[in-house]
Amino acid sequence: MSDAHPIAIRLRGVTKTFGKGESAVPALRGIDLDVPAGELTMLVGPSGCGKTTLISILAGLLSRDGGECTVFGQDLGALRRDRLSAWRRDNVGFIFQQFNLVPQLSVAENVSVPLVLKGESVAASVRKANELLATLGLEGRGKGAPLKLSGGQQQRVAIARALIHDPRLLVCDEPTSALDAELGRRVMNLIKDRSRRADRAVLVVTHDDRIFHLADSIAHVDDGRIDRIERGHQHAAPKELRP
Ligand SMILES: Nc1ncnc2c1ncn2[C@@H]1O[C@H](COP(=O)(O)OP(=O)(O)OP(=O)(O)O)[C@@H](O)[C@H]1O
Ligand SMILES: [Mg+2]
Repeated sequence: MSDAHPIAIRLRGVTKTFGKGESAVPALRGIDLDVPAGELTMLVGPSGCGKTTLISILAGLLSRDGGECTVFGQDLGALRRDRLSAWRRDNVGFIFQQFNLVPQLSVAENVSVPLVLKGESVAASVRKANELLATLGLEGRGKGAPLKLSGGQQQRVAIARALIHDPRLLVCDEPTSALDAELGRRVMNLIKDRSRRADRAVLVVTHDDRIFHLADSIAHVDDGRIDRIERGHQHAAPKELRP
């Protein structure tokens, strides 16, 4: 457990199986994990080991079968569906592995959605969206259709949408997978900055070994379980979080 920072996310015995009977796929087999606030935590592990399933559960996007999931003191299991979506709106920014942009909305409108849902005017939200897009190298692209952009451009739109409302919990599923080295660095610097605040938690799923050095800790997932947790090099006294 971290000495320096309080625990933002606490998972105990979290399980999830997709499907039933012979076609059942156990994706999570009992996840125990503490994610400290004020740090950057990465999740790594082989394809299909359960990373996306795990972060979808702790972000309130997917229900778990068993176990406990508490985020900033809120037991997600205690929230009904409508309260859960309000909680997500107020607390979570999520960069989807497949981007999940809304094709019917323009690029800037996609990015502005979290602000509009919080009650900001469309005009002010779109203006802020365009400013953030410019810092990600997408100046002047706000009016276009998201699906006409390249993969790396779409990924930056998805990143902007997750950051724009300055969420307390930022969850990033392979945020640099479609980016070149320079853009990957720029994006990870933005994400790293967000993690440096005591009331924030940031989780990044990644295979990208160019960014491992930015992690305060790296949780290794294997076959639906946390295999081990490494503390980052910048900590003078490395100490295991869990188990
Ligand atoms: N909606 C779903 N329906 C059925 N099975 C699913 C579903 N989502 C995930 N799975 C299965 O659960 C397991 C874990 O999937 P998950 O997407 O969490 O893996 P991952 O670690 O994110 O992999 P990758 O690195 O390839 O993104 C896999 O065996 C996958 O086939
Ligand atoms: Mg995944």
